[in-house]
Amino acid sequence: MPYTVPKLTDFSESALELAVTELQRAFTEEANAVLEQSKSPRLSLVQKGNLFEEFRNRWQARKSGIATQVNDLWLREAPREGKRAAGQAVNKVRWWLEGQVPEIERNAMVLRSQTPAQRTREERLDITLPGIRRVIGAEHPVIKTMNEIVAVFRNLGYSVEEGPEVETDYYNFEALNFPPNHPARDTQDTLFIVGQEAKPLRDRLLLRTHTSPVQIRTMEKMKPPVRVVCPGKVHRNDAPDATHSPIFHQIEGLAVDTNITFCDLKGTLDHAMKALFGSSVKTRFYPSFFPFTEPSADVQISCIFCGGKGTRDGGPCRNCKASGWIELLGCGMVDPNVYGFVDYDPAKVSGFAFGMGVERIAILKYGVDDIQLFFNGDVRFLEQFG
Ligand code: DAH
Repeated sequence: MPYTVPKLTDFSESALELAVTELQRAFTEEANAVLEQSKSPRLSLVQKGNLFEEFRNRWQARKSGIATQVNDLWLREAPREGKRAAGQAVNKVRWWLEGQVPEIERNAMVLRSQTPAQRTREERLDITLPGIRRVIGAEHPVIKTMNEIVAVFRNLGYSVEEGPEVETDYYNFEALNFPPNHPARDTQDTLFIVGQEAKPLRDRLLLRTHTSPVQIRTMEKMKPPVRVVCPGKVHRNDAPDATHSPIFHQIEGLAVDTNITFCDLKGTLDHAMKALFGSSVKTRFYPSFFPFTEPSADVQISCIFCGGKGTRDGGPCRNCKASGWIELLGCGMVDPNVYGFVDYDPAKVSGFAFGMGVERIAILKYGVDDIQLFFNGDVRFLEQFG
């Protein structure tokens, strides 16, 4: 139904305001329809011009346009006590139309004269605006390194699993074969959540100190064969300095299947280190201890700064303390006790696990000398990785 000016019985301010709003709504609707038709390829330019003419007359023609009708029906008909408010409403309508109609005409003319291709260009591009310089973001070097490491393992058929940063004692420690009060827990500098004392130890919350709990969560929901990497943020109660940060990132790996041996572990990690640091890098497995692996090892790579020689520029290599080797990650064969927590049969399956610090690898790959640079948010540092 096209809009018709209503006769009013109520000339209160609020009733008049309502009537004005309704008129404005109707006007906008009709104006939009005219603008839409101004784009139509089916109408000629003359037809489009007539369309606008009609629209303007309907609202503003002196004799019987809507503006005039408003004057007649709202102001003339108003009782004495309503005259003032009615006068104001009528003026408001007139002024408003006076502003709107030429605006609609301008827009209709622009639309009329454009081809559809020009029109979309016009809508996207206002060449009178000052230019906007878009600063291109760069991937953060830690995330970039993390993605690179994950990609190496995805190419070997591993999938990706994630777990929560706020963990329970059970997943962070107990199920990984750190018994309550075992001294191995002391190596983890744990940040505990306050107010957990009322709960049983295994349910108490803490910030995960490593990504190893995701091993347990994965084995709880998947049966072997399992091949996963688990990237994520971890927390330790360490004071920040050039080599320590209370927040850092790790990537955990886990492979469980029938007949997985230490050879598979060595071959996998040797391949991964060569993929990350170049094919001339050598690896060496050094006996170590972790509660959840047996046997356990630390993996060292030949020093990428001195080529494993231990000397550089006629002096001892500072990066490897003249040893020719750099320690990079922990690993081992999954301890059979761990399988007991996730209902795997240690007589049937075997597997290996590993865990590496992402910042540590990024520091070596990019020659960064202070871990804090990753967290300070200094754009001059970060934009170098774009
Ligand atoms: N979770 C250990 C840590 O943060 C690293 C680690 C060592 C992970 C050996 C493993 C592993 O999966 O097998 O110190």
